Amino acid sequence: MFSGVTTTKALWALLSAACHVSRAAAQCSRDELLATANSYLEAQVSGKTDGLQISSTNFTYMENNKKADLAKGLLSQPLKLDLNRSTADTVACASYTMFITTTGTKPYVVGTQIRHQPGSANGTGATASITMIDTVRATTGDLFFNARQTLSYIQKEDWSPIADAARRPGRDVLRHAGDAYLDMWTDAAAAPSIPWGTDCERVEGSMLTRPCGQTLPRGGSAKVNGNRRYVIDEVMGSVDVLCEFSSLGAWPDSHEIRIVDGKVKYVHTITVMH
Ligand SMILES: *[C@@H]1O[C@H](CO)[C@@H](O)[C@H](O)[C@H]1NC(C)=O
Ligand SMILES: *[C@@H]1O[C@H](CO)[C@@H](O)[C@H](O)[C@H]1NC(C)=O
Ligand SMILES: *[C@@H]1O[C@H](CO)[C@@H](O)[C@H](O)[C@H]1NC(C)=O
Repeated sequence: MFSGVTTTKALWALLSAACHVSRAAAQCSRDELLATANSYLEAQVSGKTDGLQISSTNFTYMENNKKADLAKGLLSQPLKLDLNRSTADTVACASYTMFITTTGTKPYVVGTQIRHQPGSANGTGATASITMIDTVRATTGDLFFNARQTLSYIQKEDWSPIADAARRPGRDVLRHAGDAYLDMWTDAAAAPSIPWGTDCERVEGSMLTRPCGQTLPRGGSAKVNGNRRYVIDEVMGSVDVLCEFSSLGAWPDSHEIRIVDGKVKYVHTITVMH
């Protein structure tokens, strides 16, 4: 009589696994998401947005957590980029791009998530037009801001894709790392739940902490870091979360984490102090 229960349990486990898999199926092509991210970078270099495939019916531009006018925002200023890097989330049909510019009238470190309508369910179809450009941009005066210093650290990092699919962290692992990281300020149990690497580095603005699992917050704030938006890329082993960093102030923020061989390798933060 117990075997019936066991069978039912096993069936449930199978069913929920099947639902989980189908929910996580790729909706957009990685190459196309990354091609759009490149078109965004080209727009930033030229200061012209005409080349962007923007949805005519559903488009929002956000700058530092506020709705803004694309024509008057950061993309309207031509910038020379010193470094750029993009990741792609084929399930959420989104990409994350970070770039650093040190040479213009103002230096910037920028993190941008771009969202699309879902394409074909098998991930091979055309990626539909852009529905959101969501930018957190830090400049002089923002938290630990020094674009040249940040550049010097990030240039040396290895962000090559994880070639062996069996070694890539799963979406749930990446999502947990992003959430637990942001929960450290409000939940003392969050820090120990993150798989810190022994050889990892944390670049917060331009402040370097190595190994990255040192000097962590253990709760203390009553305000959860909210309004979280995710880009999860198993191929890069990375998660980027844009949020409002409410536990310290109502600050627009980007936290990006890379996990290699099951351990946190890099953490990058961009925090705007207004
Ligand atoms: C972005 O970085 C790549 C190298 O990683 C470089 O080839 C490309 O020209 C850069 N794009 C822009 C717009 O600067
Ligand atoms: C993927 O879906 C599209 C239509 O959405 C279809 O044309 C294409 O043949 C499918 N590709 C594969 C490999 O199943
Ligand atoms: C419009 O785009 C946003 C951002 O990608 C998305 O969350 C929302 O579902 C879209 N709305 C419609 C009606 O498609």
